[in-house]
Amino acid sequence: MDVSFRDKWLEMCGIIGYNGDKDIFDILRKGLKRLEYRGYDSSGISLQKNSELVIKKSVGQVNELFKKISETELGGSKSGIAHTRWATHGKVTEINSHPHTSCQKRLAVVHNGIIENHEEIRSQLENNHLIRSETDTEIIAHYLEEKLEKGNTVIESLQEFHTEAEGTYAVLVQKKGREKIFALKNKSPLVIGYADHGNFISSDIYAFSNHTEKSIFLKDGDTAEVTENTYKVYNKDRKEATRSIKNIKWSQTENKRNFGHYMIKEVYEIPKTVEKLVKSVKNHQSSEFQKFAEKIRQKEKVVITGCGSSFHAAKIGEKILRRKGFNVRALNAVETDETDFSEETLTVAVSQSGETMDVLDTVEQAINKGSEIFSIVNVPYSTVQRKSSTTINLLAGQEICVASTKTFVNQVLVFKMLSKILDGEKTDESNLASGLRKVIEEDAMVERVSEKLVDEEKIYVLGSSVEYPLAKELALKLKEITYTHSEGLRAGEMKHGTLALVEKGTKIIGLSKKLSQIENSLEEAKSRGAEIFPITMEELGLEGLEEFTELFIATLGFVLTYKIAKKRGLPIDKPRNLAKSVTVR
Ligand code: F6R
Repeated sequence: MDVSFRDKWLEMCGIIGYNGDKDIFDILRKGLKRLEYRGYDSSGISLQKNSELVIKKSVGQVNELFKKISETELGGSKSGIAHTRWATHGKVTEINSHPHTSCQKRLAVVHNGIIENHEEIRSQLENNHLIRSETDTEIIAHYLEEKLEKGNTVIESLQEFHTEAEGTYAVLVQKKGREKIFALKNKSPLVIGYADHGNFISSDIYAFSNHTEKSIFLKDGDTAEVTENTYKVYNKDRKEATRSIKNIKWSQTENKRNFGHYMIKEVYEIPKTVEKLVKSVKNHQSSEFQKFAEKIRQKEKVVITGCGSSFHAAKIGEKILRRKGFNVRALNAVETDETDFSEETLTVAVSQSGETMDVLDTVEQAINKGSEIFSIVNVPYSTVQRKSSTTINLLAGQEICVASTKTFVNQVLVFKMLSKILDGEKTDESNLASGLRKVIEEDAMVERVSEKLVDEEKIYVLGSSVEYPLAKELALKLKEITYTHSEGLRAGEMKHGTLALVEKGTKIIGLSKKLSQIENSLEEAKSRGAEIFPITMEELGLEGLEEFTELFIATLGFVLTYKIAKKRGLPIDKPRNLAKSVTVR
C-alpha cells in the first residue's frame, strides 16, 4: 500500500442518496446537516433534473452550500446524492469537493473512505481522461465511465471496480437521465432506508431516521440499485441477494432548544441518560450485564480498547476492574497489534459511534486471533456492535456536539455497574442524578475558575489514581473545545520533568476524590508560582457520594470547558479540523 498517499488523502465523509416524492431540496439539506458530524470541510449535491445532472458544491459547512442554491433551481427533481467532507491533509477546495464527475459528466460519484491504490488506477486512466481534482474519488467516476463505454451496466462497472480497488469505501453513483442510485460497499458502512415516500441510501441511519425505521444494511462487496419504490442488492459474487429489513429506533435531537449549543444541552441531559442506563441494568439490559460479568470471570485476560475520550473511559474501566483482581488492560486502539489478543482474551470495544476506524481495526485483530468481542456503544447497529457477540448500549440518544459528554459519563457508569455486579452487590444510584444536577446547575465555582482560565494559553490537569484518566480527558476537552494547549498528568509525575515549565501564574487544575490525595503535587507547583484549582468532592459539596466521583468530576470538567470556550466565542459544537466520527486510520 502507498503510505504517502494514505497520509495525504485520507477522507471521511457522510453520504446520502434519495429517490422519491418528497421535496428533495429539504431531504438532502436536512440529511447532510445530520451527517455533518462526519465532517464539515465542504459539501456538495448532484440532482437529476430534466435528464441532466445538476451539481453544486461549496467549501465550508452545509449551510454554505444551501445558501448558494435556491429551492426553485432544484425543485422538481426526484433523485439526488449528496456529500459532506472531512479531509485530513491537502486543500479544502471546491474542486476537491464531491460529487465528482466523469469527463462527459454522464456520472456523478460521492464516496466515503479511501481507495488505497488510487495512484495506480489514476495512471491507467490518465491518458484518456481529464482528471481535475487531486482526490481518489474522482478516479471512480472515470473508471466507471470507461467500463460503461465498453458496454457494461453501472452495476457491472461497480463490480469490476470492486475487483481492482483496494481500501475501505462506500460509493454512490448517479447516471445522467436515470432516476436511480447505484451503490457499492466495501468495509465502510452503507445502509438503505425504506420509507413510504421513497428510498434512501446513506453512510448511516442518522441521515434518514426521521423518515423511516426500516433499514437494510449492505454487506462488504455488495452492489445495489435504489429507485423510488424498489431496491435490489447483488452480493460479492454478483448474484441477486436478500438483505433483511431491520427496524431501528433512533432518538433524535433536532434542535438545541433554548441552549446556545448542543454541548451544554447534552451536558444537561446527563442526569436523565444516567437514569436511563441505571434502569436498563435492572430490566432490558440485565442479561447483557450478567453475560459481561460472567465473561470477565471466565477469561484469562480482558483487553478494553477505544480512542480519545472512549479510551479514557476504558482506562477508568481498567482501574476499576483491576482493583477487583481481574487481569484487565486498556489499550489505545491506535496502538494494538495481534499479539495483544488470543482465544483466552475477552476484547471489549468502547465507542460512542461504533464506527471509529482504529477501533474497528483493533476488533479485526482480535477476531483474527480468536478473541470474543463485547462492546459498549451508543449508536445502535453500528459496525462495532454488529461485530460483537454482546453489546451494552449506552442509551444516551444522539450526541451531536463533536465532543463526547453524556456518552462518556455513561461509558464510565457501565464499568462502575459491572464492578458492582461482579461483587454481587446491589447498586444504589438513587442520589446520582440529583448529584449530577447539582454539579451542572450550581455552577458558581466553575464560573469563577473559568474566569481565571479564559485567557490562558496552557493549562495542566493533574489527577490522582482513577482521576488520572479524567485528567487526560479534561485536558483533551480543553484542547478540542477551547483550543488551549493542555496536558493531563498523574499527580506526582510533574516533578519528573514537567515542573520545569511551571512559572509564576501557570494554571494547574487538580482532580481528586479528596484534597489530601493530590495536595502534595499541587503544593509543589504552587511553591514555584503556579496558581492551583483543586476540584474534589469536598469542593463540590458532594461528600457521601464518593462512589461516583469520576462521573461528577467529568461532568464538572465539561461545564468548565464549555464556559471557557463560550467566553472565547469559539465554535463549540464543531471545533475546527475535527469530526464526530473518525472513520479513517
Ligand atoms: C473527544 C471525542 C473523541 C472521541 C474519539 C472516539 O471529545 O469525542 O476523542 O472520543 O474520536 O470516538 P468513538 O467513541 O465514537 O469511537
